[in-house]
Amino acid sequence: MHDSRETFVNHAFVAGYPVRHSRSPLIHSHWLKTLGLDGSYTTREVTPAIFSDFIALLKSGQSGFVGGNVTIPHKETVIAHVDEADALSREMGAANTVWLEEGRLKATNTDGLGFAANLDERAPGWNNAETAIVLGAGGASRAVIQAVRDRGVRTIHVVNRTLPRARELSDRFGRTRVIAHAMDALPELLTDASLFINTTSLGMDGTAVPDFDFTRMPDNAVVTDIVYVPLVTPILAQAGAQGRRIVDGLGMLLHQAAPGFEKWFGQKPLVDETLRALVIADM
Ligand code: ATR
Repeated sequence: MHDSRETFVNHAFVAGYPVRHSRSPLIHSHWLKTLGLDGSYTTREVTPAIFSDFIALLKSGQSGFVGGNVTIPHKETVIAHVDEADALSREMGAANTVWLEEGRLKATNTDGLGFAANLDERAPGWNNAETAIVLGAGGASRAVIQAVRDRGVRTIHVVNRTLPRARELSDRFGRTRVIAHAMDALPELLTDASLFINTTSLGMDGTAVPDFDFTRMPDNAVVTDIVYVPLVTPILAQAGAQGRRIVDGLGMLLHQAAPGFEKWFGQKPLVDETLRALVIADM
């Protein structure tokens, strides 16, 4: 994809509505600059009404873009619009990264990879856990379950305020490895799980966080969150105060961006402390 001719410049986008709060331009612009590449990564406000036209122009090769990220509210609908969605994004029913390859528009979902890469970096060996708990059953939870399952964790308990939503996810992934529970099952489940992942906004909408007894978890258990604003979420604060190893969700954001960058600009970018500090300063 990346053309080695000196004069060739690649351009990528993040398309969403609204899109102005996206931190992706900050991340990709930093990588372009540090790698000395002459491309660009810009936001495109694309409403649902014009999304088909946007994709058609992209497919025509006349847009000037080699690909980009799609975000809310297009992550699900984009699947039906591309020429080829990979198995990962088809199973998820959502994609966040598209790129042109030999005239065909392809799509994947990098959220799960980003989630796993963050834990690989901050809690190596996390996937040796036999059992994990995923709190929440929304779209974000689905990406996390997929990643945790694909990295070999045998049993994944999905715990949700609304039990039918957890059941839907369990059905989706085949009920043997992904098991649905209501919130009251948590105390008992914690004793067996060495990985706890929050995918909800619990505690951030003014509601009180229930007292979770993370000390019930086995030694070396890891508690992580996919929310990264604030960096230490109410659940992470609670787990940290109880002496548990915690991993914040910022790394997921940074790592999910890397595969797209590599597709559009042809070079592997670095997720490092400089980038992390840059995004934190913008929060
Ligand atoms: P996303 O796509 O970001 O995951 P979502 O689909 O709205 O967003 O899902 C939000 C998740 O957070 C859900 O699991 C939701 O629980 P319900 O399915 O019961 O709605 C959970 N959630 C949000 N606020 C919560 C709260 N105060 N207490 C418990 N769970 C909460």
